[in-house]
Amino acid sequence: MKIAVITGASSGMGREFAVQVSKLYRNLDEIWVVARRTERLEELKKKLTVPVRIFDGDLGRDYIYERIEKSLDQKQAKIRLLVNAAGYGKMGFTEKLDSLDLCGMIQLNCIALTKMTHLCLPYMERGARVVQVASAAAFAPQPGFAVYAASKSYVYSFSRALRMELKKHGISVTAVCPGPVDTEFFDRAGSLPGKGKEGLLAEEASVVRLALLDAVWRKPVSVYGSTMKLCRIGAKILPDGILAWAMKKLNQV
Ligand SMILES: NC(=O)c1ccc[n+]([C@@H]2O[C@H](COP(=O)([O-])OP(=O)(O)OC[C@H]3O[C@@H](n4cnc5c(N)ncnc54)[C@H](OP(=O)(O)O)[C@@H]3O)[C@@H](O)[C@H]2O)c1
Repeated sequence: MKIAVITGASSGMGREFAVQVSKLYRNLDEIWVVARRTERLEELKKKLTVPVRIFDGDLGRDYIYERIEKSLDQKQAKIRLLVNAAGYGKMGFTEKLDSLDLCGMIQLNCIALTKMTHLCLPYMERGARVVQVASAAAFAPQPGFAVYAASKSYVYSFSRALRMELKKHGISVTAVCPGPVDTEFFDRAGSLPGKGKEGLLAEEASVVRLALLDAVWRKPVSVYGSTMKLCRIGAKILPDGILAWAMKKLNQV
């Protein structure tokens, strides 16, 4: 059975990945979706023409990985595409944020993504794709969003190294690094820091379309929009001091 596995599929970009993958991938037998909100996943299932298998559960707990692994074995599944989109951020100064939130970001954005990737790799063959949703926040340290940005730097670095490791198996890995995207993300993260940032908000459909295209072309990194592309170049060439000053200005901290 050929499948795609998508985490964070109950809303935002994860959900949009499921919608677009169901149209783009012709030979999938099922799409497996992972998130906590069952009713949202049920709604998605009704919308898609490809059969959807729901794994409703918390990626911070072991049972969800056990359920997925058991099903992978039972169905003798071949994963054509893994999208790790589950993630969250919480804005604010580290000293002011709750420790549960700080560690929760690392738990979901880094540990859960690593566990899902490690769990799925044995079920992937030549030609399979891994799409890791990182963020443009990965490019430079972000005062006022410090742990989130650090967690996404992990995803960015892990994805690019994993890509090199998997090259010999013909499996490609793409790190998706969008700037702000108009999703429920900000309900949990808090408002966008800085005036006029709303103008930077990208549409989830456009970000996901480019990400899937870049994955098809086996690109290592997918960056949507010229502003974020410039940010990536700036982070590579600017001296640390200037970069830190620019980030402080940008985040108005
Ligand atoms: N929006 C942005 O501006 C932006 C920019 C760059 C990168 N990103 C990244 O893009 C990814 C998708 O975010 P989004 O913008 O689409 O936000 P979103 O709409 O809030 O989606 C987050 C998804 O993660 C799932 N999730 C959260 N906690 C979970 C847990 N403990 N176990 C399982 N699933 C969990 C949520 O489902 P349930 O609540 O149902 O569990 C939801 O489906 C994230 O990794 C985010 O860091 C977002």
